Amino acid sequence: MSGPDLRRAAAARALDLVEPGMRLGIGTGSTANAFVELLGERVRGGLAIVGVPTSEATQAAAARAGIRLATLEEVPELDLTVDGADEVDAQLRLIKGGGAALLREKIVACASRRMVVIADAAKQVGTLGAFPLPIEVNAFGLRPTQIAVEAAIGRAGCAGPVSLRMAADGSPLTTDGGHRILDARLGRIPDPEALSAALWSVPGVVEHGLFLGIASAAILAADRGGRAEVTILGTL
Ligand code: A5P
Repeated sequence: MSGPDLRRAAAARALDLVEPGMRLGIGTGSTANAFVELLGERVRGGLAIVGVPTSEATQAAAARAGIRLATLEEVPELDLTVDGADEVDAQLRLIKGGGAALLREKIVACASRRMVVIADAAKQVGTLGAFPLPIEVNAFGLRPTQIAVEAAIGRAGCAGPVSLRMAADGSPLTTDGGHRILDARLGRIPDPEALSAALWSVPGVVEHGLFLGIASAAILAADRGGRAEVTILGTL
């Protein structure tokens, strides 16, 4: 099975969790997009929900799919957020932000009673860190912030190059919130909680892509002989 098929299988399982009247956080990325497409079909069939998107891209996709949208100012408490992830470990700790939406994703997930991750099972890892950790930083003082981030990474027992994420046009990527992204290529993060605390000590860090103690379950789809096998980590 192809990646899109697996993403769609995980998204379809998450759709089973959606009930009429729910206030839904809607994630960002290709797996979340599969969820948006399936949710849109249900909405066009009469399902009444309201969604809060985690990025401008998801807002556009959800609007195209006919999903009723609201802001967190209008709907500050959500029932369920469904979102992808770049890595997930056995304790449901995540790396997110490959699509640069980590700030809104974390705010929306934390405004939700439940966050459920949907992903290709290849995203499950023993130790977080093979995927570069995105760190969203203020554009002001970028250079000293990067130096302080590198020092914080060292204090947390990690090592690896930190680089400014660039956009396709060669300029520094700007997030939906107007910030920059530093990607930390650490290989492995032995103590994600320690790294999170160390990063939070740096002025200029707006958010980081470690989602710790936020997800309540992960729906992971793997290819088993040409069929999608879905496994659940945690409790749906
Ligand atoms: C967006 O910023 C990310 O957190 C995505 O949720 C993550 O990169 C997963 O994306 P895919 O579903 O496209 O792999």
